[in-house]
Amino acid sequence: MSSKNFQRYTITAALPYANGPVHIGHLAGVYIPADIYARYLRANDRAVAFVCGSDEHGVPITLRAKKEGATPQQIVDKYHGLIKESFYQLGISFDIYSRTSSPVHHQTASDFFTTLYQKGVFEEKTSEQYYDQKNEQFLADRYIMGTCPVCGNKDAYGDQCESCGSTLSPNDLKDPRSMISGEKPVLKETRHWYLPLDKYEKWLREWILEGHQEWKSNVYGQCKSWIEQGLQPRAVTRDLEWGVPVPLQDAAGKVLYVWFDAPIGYISATKDWAAQNQKDWVPYWQDKETKLVHFIGKDNIVFHCIIFPTMLKAHGGFILPENVPANEFLNLEGNKISTSRNWAVWLHEYLQDLPGKEDVLRFALCANAPETKDYDFTWKDYQARNNNELLAIFGNFINRVLVLTAKYYQGKVPARKTLYSIDEEVIAKLEEFPLRIGKAIEIFKFRDALSELMDLARLGNKYLADTEPWKLIKTDAERVATIMNISLQIAATLAIVSEPFLPFTSAKLLLMLQLDLLKWENAGKISILQPGHQLGESSLLFEKIEDELIEKQVQKLMDTKAANALENKVVTPAKQTVQFDDFTKNDIRIATILAAERVPRSKKLLKLKVDTGFDQRTVVSGIAEHFEPETVVGRQVSILVNLAPRQIMGIESQGMILMAEDKDGSLHFIHPPSTISNGSAVS
Ligand code: MF3
Ligand code: ZN
Repeated sequence: MSSKNFQRYTITAALPYANGPVHIGHLAGVYIPADIYARYLRANDRAVAFVCGSDEHGVPITLRAKKEGATPQQIVDKYHGLIKESFYQLGISFDIYSRTSSPVHHQTASDFFTTLYQKGVFEEKTSEQYYDQKNEQFLADRYIMGTCPVCGNKDAYGDQCESCGSTLSPNDLKDPRSMISGEKPVLKETRHWYLPLDKYEKWLREWILEGHQEWKSNVYGQCKSWIEQGLQPRAVTRDLEWGVPVPLQDAAGKVLYVWFDAPIGYISATKDWAAQNQKDWVPYWQDKETKLVHFIGKDNIVFHCIIFPTMLKAHGGFILPENVPANEFLNLEGNKISTSRNWAVWLHEYLQDLPGKEDVLRFALCANAPETKDYDFTWKDYQARNNNELLAIFGNFINRVLVLTAKYYQGKVPARKTLYSIDEEVIAKLEEFPLRIGKAIEIFKFRDALSELMDLARLGNKYLADTEPWKLIKTDAERVATIMNISLQIAATLAIVSEPFLPFTSAKLLLMLQLDLLKWENAGKISILQPGHQLGESSLLFEKIEDELIEKQVQKLMDTKAANALENKVVTPAKQTVQFDDFTKNDIRIATILAAERVPRSKKLLKLKVDTGFDQRTVVSGIAEHFEPETVVGRQVSILVNLAPRQIMGIESQGMILMAEDKDGSLHFIHPPSTISNGSAVS
């Protein structure tokens, strides 16, 4: 790897699809780390182009448009605006937030394709693909469903069976159906252009497996397994109306595949930025002295580490990424974040519900960034991060320093006098922090960097607690001047080194200290604030987050869960009407389970002995995958007692225990809220 000291950086953050808003998973995995990195480099006087934009092509956007009775352009306009604004409000400091429906991008992507075409890079192939006659469109693999040839699952997708995990191609499916119209698709010939990844395999091995062993192990590992599975040519065009038209004769109705054009969007965005700021975009993409870094989530690794670099290599005119620090995923309250199930904290809603708390979210997400494994965001943790760390440690230190300085010195920085060993130790430690924080950022360990930052605030608190200037003020004013001067220098360093993580807090703190934003090289020094410098007015940096606020957010998620349950028709629609007399034929009673054991050779069955109030009987119940036998003994349950006895695995089952099945498939007993007599009738 290049331990090279790069002076110029092109930093990209994955272009979000413009068919929905951004959520905390995107932020923790991509945008917050990228922003910290970019801000840090700027503070170190590096030339930085931090680019992003909306990914506005692809099939999902066209389907969404269809569903909403709008044009794809209307859909992307709506979300582009929303996403751009919410990033801005969170302080994500893109130099440009562009979009792939822009003319510059269409031109750039089109030219890119043409260059590769003219160099003879592509393979042209005609193949039969499924076509939805009703909707008059070719079907992408994930829009075809059918029966899995391996396990018989009726709802397997054209690219994969989620039931048995087999990788499929649409032609493998039995009884294929279009997910768009539900109709049976027909095979139709179509011609496409393929990027022959197989021909780049040797180069990819050298470039990644030998040349970039310093990449994060999750990234390196995924690349290795892709390369070792053998690479295939990949179609880079699609039959679709929405996208960048294929710039060839007789390619009407064909566009560039969204994953071909989107990463080129980084280049287009850089051009936009340069044009708007009287800069030259060329060195940012062509000069070997530029470090190109892609921030992405783990689902994007193959595109950024294998396919896009192959495109860049084949083109020949561009630099390659120096690093791709992809993150794992963030979960929310124990469940996978899901756009379709609305299981997410949406950035634009957060900004509205919790105004002024941008840095709290940035902090909580960085502290939980899924750098090496999936992580979980909970509102309780969010609250604790604010109350126990930002407020109790960072905010508390700053507040004490500023209040004491105001009280003893009318807000003027006092001069240091004789230094004692405790002062010298603190000064030595202070000096090391900016280096350590910077090192961690440079190797993409943002969580570690953040915890170092908090340790610096802890150092400040400890220094005050150890020296107790509020006690000394009556007896040793000289000591107090020294202590307060050093504490103020710590505060000033905090203002500088917190900026990448907590830009709003840093700005407030700088204002209180009456400092202009300083470069990283100033941090850690004890001459940032000169004696006699007048500080500004102080106010609290953070406020306590009460339970009420958190409960509201948790309730919002609970409401989502409830709404999903309804929508997923887990609450199955009502059955056919029955007459009252038919219903009363069922004799349902409350009973208590007396004993339970597994039925030998069965995974699902428990043999239960129950007391029905009028007899004791045996019931075989299919709950063994949900309950251990010992945990059900003593429970009251509802039982249908007049069900005709049945032989199950050689045991006569006399009745049926009633269970409710939740939408996640979990089973729950139906029982009275408190114990009542066995034999009580349920009617
Ligand atoms: N829109 C894609 C996603 O959200 C990311 C595209 S990144 C780019 O997964 F490189 F293609 F731009
Ligand atoms: Zn299967």
